[in-house]
Amino acid sequence: MSISRFVQLFEQAFNEGALLKCTLSRSRASAGPDLKNIYLRKVELKKGPHVAFTYRYKTRDEVKNLPLPEAIALLQQWLGTQWLNADLFSTGQDATLSFAKNGEAALTLKKPAQTTSPDTRHDRGKNRLLSPEAPWLHAQGITNARGEVLPTAQDKWRQINKFLEIIEALLKSHPLPPDAHIADMGSGKGYLTFALYDFLVNRLGMKPRITGIELRPALVEFCNKTAREAGFEGLDFIADDIARYKPERLDLLIALHACDTATDLALATGVRGQAEIIVVAPCCHKQIRKELHPHNEMAPLLRHGILEERQAEILTDGIRALLLESQGYRTQVFEFISTEHTAKNVMITAIGGAREKKREKEALEKVKALKEGFGIGEHYLEKLL
Ligand SMILES: C[S@@+](CC[C@H](N)C(=O)[O-])C[C@H]1O[C@@H](n2cnc3c(N)ncnc32)[C@H](O)[C@@H]1O
Repeated sequence: MSISRFVQLFEQAFNEGALLKCTLSRSRASAGPDLKNIYLRKVELKKGPHVAFTYRYKTRDEVKNLPLPEAIALLQQWLGTQWLNADLFSTGQDATLSFAKNGEAALTLKKPAQTTSPDTRHDRGKNRLLSPEAPWLHAQGITNARGEVLPTAQDKWRQINKFLEIIEALLKSHPLPPDAHIADMGSGKGYLTFALYDFLVNRLGMKPRITGIELRPALVEFCNKTAREAGFEGLDFIADDIARYKPERLDLLIALHACDTATDLALATGVRGQAEIIVVAPCCHKQIRKELHPHNEMAPLLRHGILEERQAEILTDGIRALLLESQGYRTQVFEFISTEHTAKNVMITAIGGAREKKREKEALEKVKALKEGFGIGEHYLEKLL
């Protein structure tokens, strides 16, 4: 009796456009392994209104859209057998159906917690580059189990979104093939690698192959496990040194906060692999600082440690951009994310395919002049190239 009344309330809320959500919880083993909840809501599809079922597994979500009669048949079949609790939220009334151990059902009706109309657009999350509800974000310690960004992870969340905005803009002007091959050099714990994969697949509909290269085996193991659990088939991580990584095909190379000359190793791999797009956010800049022996007008300023440090950063990244230009890339150097969030905030992007002998020669001449003025014997990237 209670089951049919609950299903009737669900049907009524659906038909009246009042259904906000229906949550199935307290699953029995027969519901399926690792399945934690099922959420039902109304969606307006081209073929008419449907019920969207979101199956929430331990580490991933799966969505299926079904016509109302099929959804009702499933609810009747599941309630009390596979799921021992169901909550209905609608703008008219809330209801809870709960089963005791002896199988007895109890239906409780309550005033609605929310009375504003539901959003039934199929693509309601499309304006976001990444859904915070993605289960891998929880595995990465960025969100809680309810898909809310943790207060301690707000900076990371902002950084992820800014990074995806930059990628989105680059791909708009320079689209890559849908099966693009991508390398992330020094991928670390992998949250930017996962974000990139999720964005390319779920937002842009691409089928990329992304490889994260990381020295630390424990991080690689963690990332591979998380990728498998998330069902990210084209995402893999290998424990290796960037210096040894020689991809057969490379369309996009990223290296974010790879330490000191690891950024140069990554850039050299991108250039040799003829990557169409290169995106790096350099980290520390020790190599050039050791090489600095200025004998130009800057010399008196660079007696001060902090100014010398900043000058070394400018020279390291400025020369990197010029060396990329000497290899036919168009570059941009800009603030990745405000220094309020991270001290490592410069980003260099490079777009290939602009071979022009005169420009390339000029770029090398500028590098030569800078090296002379600042008494720099060698820039590591120059040596690698
Ligand atoms: C500061 S973390 C950045 C991680 C990630 N890219 C991010 O932005 O969150 C730099 C990572 O690069 C890795 N790394 C440094 N040198 C490397 C090399 N030569 N080969 C592979 N990984 C390297 C480190 O182990 C570290 O995990």
